Amino acid sequence: MDTMVKNKAISKEFDVESIRKEFPILSVKVHGRPLVYFDNAASSQKPLFVIKAIEKYYETVNSNVHRGVHHLSSLATDQFEAARKTIATHINANIDEVIFTRGTTEAINLVAYSFGEVFVKEGDEIIISHMEHHSNIVPWQILCQRKKAVLKVIPITESGELRMDEYKKLLSSKTKLVAVAHVSNSLGTINPVEEIIALAHAKNIPVLLDGAQAVPHMKIDVKKLDVDFYCFSGHKIYAPTGIGILFGKEKWLKQMVPFQSGGEMIKEVKLEASTYQDPPLRFEAGTPHIEGSIVLATAIDYMNNIGLDAIAKQEQKLLDYATEKLSAINGLKIVGQAKHKAPVVAFNIEGLHPYDVGVILDQLGIAVRTGHHCTQPIMDLYGIPGTVRASFSFYNTIEEIDVLVAGVKKAIDMLKK
Ligand code: ALA
Repeated sequence: MDTMVKNKAISKEFDVESIRKEFPILSVKVHGRPLVYFDNAASSQKPLFVIKAIEKYYETVNSNVHRGVHHLSSLATDQFEAARKTIATHINANIDEVIFTRGTTEAINLVAYSFGEVFVKEGDEIIISHMEHHSNIVPWQILCQRKKAVLKVIPITESGELRMDEYKKLLSSKTKLVAVAHVSNSLGTINPVEEIIALAHAKNIPVLLDGAQAVPHMKIDVKKLDVDFYCFSGHKIYAPTGIGILFGKEKWLKQMVPFQSGGEMIKEVKLEASTYQDPPLRFEAGTPHIEGSIVLATAIDYMNNIGLDAIAKQEQKLLDYATEKLSAINGLKIVGQAKHKAPVVAFNIEGLHPYDVGVILDQLGIAVRTGHHCTQPIMDLYGIPGTVRASFSFYNTIEEIDVLVAGVKKAIDMLKK
């Protein structure tokens, strides 16, 4: 796309120092100290490659899409649809199976409504798990209330893994959909999604994966996964907030009713009744987040320029180092010790409230998230008020983890006196 600026990150070696220079915010000072940004699972920082693409969009393209015959409108429409193609290619989807949404939350709400309206009736069951983000719990609760359906929950183990034995028992002829996280935002667990999908498909049950925490860290191939719905957010993969993706298999999307209605999603409007567009436009009512959609594709290009394998390798190194160093601290317990994990380390310190630890870390320039991380059922299950969560991106360094470890030790000294 011609809105792009050259990506300086292309290099054969993984050069974290050069990469960090592309993220202006990483050199700000917080309370007089260098920022250590470990809240990447909440939202990632943006490289100049992305920031400049936003500028360029408003300087040279800005207009509405699918509406005008004028030059700028055609340009915006071309770039918007080219972005859809880039995203489809990135996750190996067909272009008409990629719907722009405001984010993962809206994508899940869309499926809960538009799929639920057609396929779920009284007495049917939806399966989620105990480790879901609230955005993959509440929409299903509302659907079940509306349809008098039943929500079933896959239990999890002490280490934060799905009880697959229990999952198998929950699948039945009443199950209409399985909706689970690909990666847990608060435990870091990478779920065995291939097995989850295969078991559901053996009973002709479709599966939705909440991929918000997976897409930043690994290659997603929706065809290989054979997943029915896959959702993710732009802001966790170096793009702006307010833009996300719902992938849905054509066979489902075609049968689903609109989620929101208005302009853009219609074929013909009569005062008596209207007809709707085919997917994906059927699910994109109103003027979309045009700049966000185009720049989401730019952010994906940025990640691909670095290389998903290189990203995964660097992040695994950070995860291993942080796990080793933090576990060695007296009284510190890591919450979420699954065998396969994304770069997330959540922990608690005996006798200390996670909030207090977070406040001290902030004073030291270290950004972590504290609290229940929008997963209250996990905290209830483990009987804890929340955790301190450090989540890493490829632009973080081993030295920053040393700063975190020293910060945690300092917090313990200060709070335990
Ligand atoms: N879901 C995001 C997080 O885990 C906001 O922090």
